[in-house]
Amino acid sequence: MRRNAARLIAFLLRLADRVDGGSRYVLPAMENPDLSCTDAAHPPVEPSADTSPPTADLPTERACVVDGACALTADGASRRRFLFETGALTTGLAAAPYLNAQERVTVPRPAGPPLRSASVTRMKFEVNGRSYDLTLDPRVTLLDALREHIGLMGTKKGCDRGQCGACTVLVNGRRVNSCLTLALSCDGYKVVTVEGLASGETLHPVQAAFLARDAFQCGYCTPGQICSAVGMLQEVRADSVSAATPDVRTRGAVTLRQISDDEIRERMSGNICRCGAYVNIVAAIRDLAERERL
Ligand code: FES
Ligand code: FES
Repeated sequence: MRRNAARLIAFLLRLADRVDGGSRYVLPAMENPDLSCTDAAHPPVEPSADTSPPTADLPTERACVVDGACALTADGASRRRFLFETGALTTGLAAAPYLNAQERVTVPRPAGPPLRSASVTRMKFEVNGRSYDLTLDPRVTLLDALREHIGLMGTKKGCDRGQCGACTVLVNGRRVNSCLTLALSCDGYKVVTVEGLASGETLHPVQAAFLARDAFQCGYCTPGQICSAVGMLQEVRADSVSAATPDVRTRGAVTLRQISDDEIRERMSGNICRCGAYVNIVAAIRDLAERERL
């Protein structure tokens, strides 16, 4: 590698030498009087028909350059040569490590114990009335277990960090963000996804209300919205309060009979709809609440 680097540096130095010598050519632009040197001490050089390479004895003091300034003095030529040589040397040193890149040898991994594969854990839970016995990495989320290992794609992955609610499912009747829930933590539990709400061809009342109210556009958030609405209605029936409840000290302060739109919005606030179908989502849930009044 060092030999190659030295060869490269020598080549660049030779090249710099030639380039420096080239500055002593009288350029064709010299024929243009505007570009010629006006210094009386440096009379214009007659263009020569000779295009052979420069000779070492060509006087640099008599040559002119395109911008009309005087040609190089001996000091100027020396300075230019110094700059070229320094540049070539620096370039050579910088390029040297790359010359033999293809010759690099891969160093074998030192002997030692084999790398450990990720551990797996057995877990068992019920999804939509069917029992699943899975052996998974304990870090797998419930969302990934449902989608990637069980094959239920109805539950959507939106943000994967608990901010959008697209992954909402019911675990033991309570709504959860499945992207924030480890599958292992559901061992022995009952999980219901959007696929498990309908019974056969009959839609769940919340699904029917969403359809009737056209409470979706692209539908990406809809499985999460529907599961969340099912859980939310159950929470109201169970007397749970929310930040919008006017009096949290009175038991039964909120019932489906008197639930307000503000209360519905607050309780559904964990489910984002990028299409902005909120008005119809609230209307669908209000329809269900009104039916409860009958
Ligand atoms: S994907 Fe779970 S909250 Fe967004
Ligand atoms: S319907 Fe498109 S995100 Fe809600």
